[in-house]
Amino acid sequence: MSNASGARVDVAESPDSGSASATPAFPRPDAAVQRDPVLPRTLVLIGLMGAGKSSIGRRLAHRLGVDFVDADSEIETAAGRTIPEIFEELGEATFRDGERRVIRRLLDDRTPHVLATGGGAFMADDTRAVIREKGLSLWLKADLDTLYERVARRSNRPLLKTADPKETLRGLMATRYPVYAEADIVVETRRVPIETTVEKVYQALVAHLNQ
Ligand code: S3P
Repeated sequence: MSNASGARVDVAESPDSGSASATPAFPRPDAAVQRDPVLPRTLVLIGLMGAGKSSIGRRLAHRLGVDFVDADSEIETAAGRTIPEIFEELGEATFRDGERRVIRRLLDDRTPHVLATGGGAFMADDTRAVIREKGLSLWLKADLDTLYERVARRSNRPLLKTADPKETLRGLMATRYPVYAEADIVVETRRVPIETTVEKVYQALVAHLNQ
């Protein structure tokens, strides 16, 4: 850009240059609002199997610029077994015990991150208490058809190895949804492109943090 005398003017140094593409020398008043929120605590994603905790959590963490951790994967690493193997060889009680310890350790030791938890984690009183104390909980609430469509694609969930997995899911919704409702933030998810849900979750988080 040149001034009246033909000398070159660096637009970045001219706050009132009026050029849309120029980098403003001073931040606009709304710049702070547009910046990604800083996570004050670990965001703990809860919800039933098939709610999308891992796939949404991974993308959300990327968007927030923080780590993503999957509690089930951490349990598998600690046990040296897959979740179905833990259920089969060690039993559900051992799995739940490992789940409690892993979630507490992650909330104690790691800087704020996005943490996806298995569907049963929030049902344990002490896990719920530690999440309330140290984290921020967000329930991905989905309807039965959405959940069933997603879980039907894979056979890695021991609790759904039943004669009628859809009915099993329905039963779990009845017992768990009243407890999940204690979450700090609730976001309803549907069968829409995943980026749409990530955006919805992001906006719900921003709204919560701005309260
Ligand atoms: C469980 C959910 C699973 C896994 C385990 C038990 C549950 O995780 O932790 O199979 O009790 O609902 P996802 O919710 O990630 O599938």
